[in-house]
Amino acid sequence: MDSRRGKPIQAFHSGRSILADVFTGLLLVSLGIVLGMICNANFPESYLHPYLQPQPLTPPPAPAPSPETACVGPRSPSPAPRMEFADFLAPSAGGGGGGLMHNMTDEELLWRASMEPRRVDASMPRGIVHKVAFLFLVTADLPLRPLWEKFFAGHEGLYSIYVHARPGYAGSPPRDSVFYGRMIPSQNTTWGTMNLVDAERRLLGNALLDLANARFALFSESCAPLLSFPAVYAYLTGSRASFVESYDRPVGRLRHWRWFTNRGVSLEHWRKGSQWFQMHRALAAEFVAEARYIDVFKGGHGKKNMEEHYLPTLVTLLGWGARSQNRSLTNVDWSHSRGGHPLRYGARDVTAELIERLRKGEGNCGYNGGVADLCYMFARKFAPDTLGKLLELAPKVMGFG
Ligand SMILES: *[C@@H]1O[C@H](CO)[C@@H](O)[C@H](O)[C@H]1NC(C)=O
Ligand SMILES: *[C@@H]1O[C@H](CO)[C@@H](O)[C@H](O)[C@H]1NC(C)=O
Ligand SMILES: *[C@@H]1O[C@H](CO)[C@@H](O)[C@H](O)[C@H]1NC(C)=O
Repeated sequence: MDSRRGKPIQAFHSGRSILADVFTGLLLVSLGIVLGMICNANFPESYLHPYLQPQPLTPPPAPAPSPETACVGPRSPSPAPRMEFADFLAPSAGGGGGGLMHNMTDEELLWRASMEPRRVDASMPRGIVHKVAFLFLVTADLPLRPLWEKFFAGHEGLYSIYVHARPGYAGSPPRDSVFYGRMIPSQNTTWGTMNLVDAERRLLGNALLDLANARFALFSESCAPLLSFPAVYAYLTGSRASFVESYDRPVGRLRHWRWFTNRGVSLEHWRKGSQWFQMHRALAAEFVAEARYIDVFKGGHGKKNMEEHYLPTLVTLLGWGARSQNRSLTNVDWSHSRGGHPLRYGARDVTAELIERLRKGEGNCGYNGGVADLCYMFARKFAPDTLGKLLELAPKVMGFG
């Protein structure tokens, strides 16, 4: 065997040109592979599902072979213009004056939204201006709409609004309102059930499609701002962490723990909190992509109020740690709780002192590793009759209007 193997090697030595031919061949093959990869990268975008196409939704021009790749065929004398970076940022669903209505099912929407970029930091490319997405989960009209309109006035381009109303609601704000055309496809919601979480994820899913939305805040119709837009914007976008209330509440957590433990949610994970979150884009994308635990909570052992546990518990299940401050920026007073409802402010309760007290909260609220002067940017619940009083106080106490 050894002696027979020796011969061909000697033959190689004697004919150096064969070895050179093999090297040349290998070189040509790898060059072919690389060229093939470059050419394949130019496949037409129209092969993709419409939701996957880069923006704008008008079909991009057919890709012409660019001079530097020079794959096959004649060189185009004037290459088609390349898509601008800004074109990729246009909202994917509707946008412009066309409203936000689309035909995606929840599954399609969350699938689409979960693949949106999660990275939001100081190095956002080429001067993209971060927006805050204001998500309104309401039944019908927004009684405090005039207050919110004053709050938003003059800050176009720094916010976007999404409204989830009950499906049958046919009303609409006037055409000149910032709320006009901002309704998203909705479904029925019931307090005390997980379909509230579905509505929250629906709002987030729609808002994630706008790549400039960097923070996401949830509101009800009884929520009101406690400060001016620039103050709220700075507080939200300046924070490295999200604000998702999540606290350990030993009382009550023992009831169904075995059922949950069997499904991967143990006692150490179990948390409670209000839904009124203010989320960083990265967590919002994780929240809409989450598909494992939501089914556990929907199974929920047939118990009520799972929506008060799902998101707060997710903070521990997904290990969000310091990425969430474990508190909300929306002040809700449970100290006078009547029948499971928080304190509701009427027109007579609304004073400058109340607004200041609500903002300050308990004091000593964590913010970027330090402590912030103010704990709350928003509060609930304000009855519809507080509108006049809030509008009157806004310029003096809140700094807008
Ligand atoms: C999609 O939605 C539009 C309205 O936005 C509607 O006119 C159209 O019929 C819908 N198409 C399908 C296939 O549901
Ligand atoms: C929503 O609820 C209303 C009243 O409870 C009901 O009539 C309607 O059919 C529901 N819609 C859907 C889509 O479930
Ligand atoms: C929030 O809670 C989680 C889990 O309870 C914890 O790991 C994390 O350190 C908390 N974050 C802050 C900022 O306190």
